[in-house]
Amino acid sequence: MGLLTIEESICGRDGTCAKVCPANIIEQKAPDAYPTIIEGSETLCIKCGHCLAVCPSGALKLSFMDPKTAPVVKPGMLPDIQAVQLFFASRRSIRNYTRVPVEKEQLEMLFQVARYAPSGHNGQPLNWLVINDKNEVNRLAGLTIDWMRSMLRKNPSGMQRLVDDWDNGIDRICRGAPQLIIAHSKKAAHLSQTDCTIALTYLELAAHAMGLGACWAGFLNAAANNYPALTEALNLPEGHQCFGAMMIGHPQYRFRRIPLRKKPIVTWR
Ligand SMILES: Cc1cc2nc3c(=O)[nH]c(=O)nc-3n(C[C@H](O)[C@H](O)[C@H](O)COP(=O)(O)O)c2cc1C
Repeated sequence: MGLLTIEESICGRDGTCAKVCPANIIEQKAPDAYPTIIEGSETLCIKCGHCLAVCPSGALKLSFMDPKTAPVVKPGMLPDIQAVQLFFASRRSIRNYTRVPVEKEQLEMLFQVARYAPSGHNGQPLNWLVINDKNEVNRLAGLTIDWMRSMLRKNPSGMQRLVDDWDNGIDRICRGAPQLIIAHSKKAAHLSQTDCTIALTYLELAAHAMGLGACWAGFLNAAANNYPALTEALNLPEGHQCFGAMMIGHPQYRFRRIPLRKKPIVTWR
């Protein structure tokens, strides 16, 4: 079977599949012709499925994707902009967690949502590591503190307060979160950082929708990339790098108001 199959009895020959293809590898040779792949260009397909997703009749099938298994988006199914704005604005970085860990099924839902994040060339390079044990999260936070101590020996900085707080039993690295999610990917891939950041952003929003609490663990991420003891403790696959970490748990408090943020700074030309 070739890359693209057209069910001719239902194809409307409107050519939208060709128009939306980001790789420009689908052609409609004449207005009444069925779409085809430009000869020899199969390998340029980025497997985004846009041709299949835009087809009004479901006539287009790909060797790796069937329109019958692609969920239909019906008008009216999606939230309006007021709902979206409120949802986005009401998300908070959560730094106080109950002791109850997040169920595996709920974590799996987060990954299902994050799967739809955009990625360069549709590369979808995401790999997730779940630190599912509070004691292990705490150990990783401790290693981050060790990294900070080594930095402070060279240069005094604001990190001193984080270390002092840790010594006084206050964890400002992972905030006592019961679980930690690490986004990792191949070091060498130049879009990995961007792709992982976007996926983590989706994941954080999904957590908000589920009433869970999440917060970026930026210090831990920095240590993971600069402190061999922590890199080793994460034990990521060979050639992989940590591109972001997120604390996760059940929020202890409910945020009742939306704090103000800077007005958008926009230049119009
Ligand atoms: C890249 C990044 C790294 C962050 N690292 C940390 C962190 O290490 N610890 C923490 O408590 N919050 C961290 N945050 C959360 C920010 O402090 C938070 O987003 C900001 O204060 C705004 O609050 P809000 O997310 O509730 O709107 C991080 C956020 C981002 C985007």
